[in-house]
Amino acid sequence: MKPITAEQAKLDQQFYEENGYWISPVVFDAEEVEALRKAHDRIWNQDFDGDAFPLTEWFPSDNPTRLRKIDNAWWINDEVYKTVTARKLGKLAANLMNTDEVRVWYDQAIYKPGTGKGQETSVGNVGWHQDYVYWQCTNTTNLVTAWIALQDTDLTNGCMQVIPGSHKWGLLNSDGFFNTELEAVKKQMEVDEKPWREEPLILKAGQVSFHHSYTIHGSRQNYSNDPRLSIVAHYIPQGTAYKKIQNVDNIRLLGPRPKEGDLYDNQYFPLAYSASEEK
Ligand SMILES: [Fe+2]
Repeated sequence: MKPITAEQAKLDQQFYEENGYWISPVVFDAEEVEALRKAHDRIWNQDFDGDAFPLTEWFPSDNPTRLRKIDNAWWINDEVYKTVTARKLGKLAANLMNTDEVRVWYDQAIYKPGTGKGQETSVGNVGWHQDYVYWQCTNTTNLVTAWIALQDTDLTNGCMQVIPGSHKWGLLNSDGFFNTELEAVKKQMEVDEKPWREEPLILKAGQVSFHHSYTIHGSRQNYSNDPRLSIVAHYIPQGTAYKKIQNVDNIRLLGPRPKEGDLYDNQYFPLAYSASEEK
């Protein structure tokens, strides 16, 4: 990837601030993409690196067309660890969050099975949601998600779609990830008055889309014959600390139990970028 000029970085930042998402140039080359596709295979075959085990996994076997997802894949796969802590990726996240330091909040490996054409089904959909609704235990909402495409990705294979500008709508009733009926989730969010526009994030293999923790996003059916694979890295900026929150237990934090105000700055939130290393 060619380095992004300071001038371009500023424009990218402005686009992100206005729209709540941004699409990068190709960050990972064909060889890196292939290595990550192999990492996916190993993960789904439960061939884990080290002696660790996944903390949250969701690969239902009852229906092969359902989505598969594993959280904190970096914990059990070296290739994923290398990728989500890659400085070139962290630096892009740093620019969007306007921070000098970026750490991994956690990651996800996501496998959306292909159904082929001709049969309509919603079982592989990801319902509209805001990532922050699952988190909330941070003293900032300035978190960014990086979605790495491991094949060319568009509406034919169920690409992610975002609602541009929705990061400015506040936190909504938007815990729809596992609800595959997108229209029902939209209703629940009560956004009828808002300027709703669905923008498909069309990516080449190795390209990355970024979205803000409040940006509404979801995805529909993968009509291709192949699974749609991605690695998703969630990032926090410098100074992110634990904030106690009631009734949110969706996130499984690694490491010791935090106390109010503790910084997420230890090895369980690995460093992806530090501006000081550049000087
Ligand atoms: Fe999400």
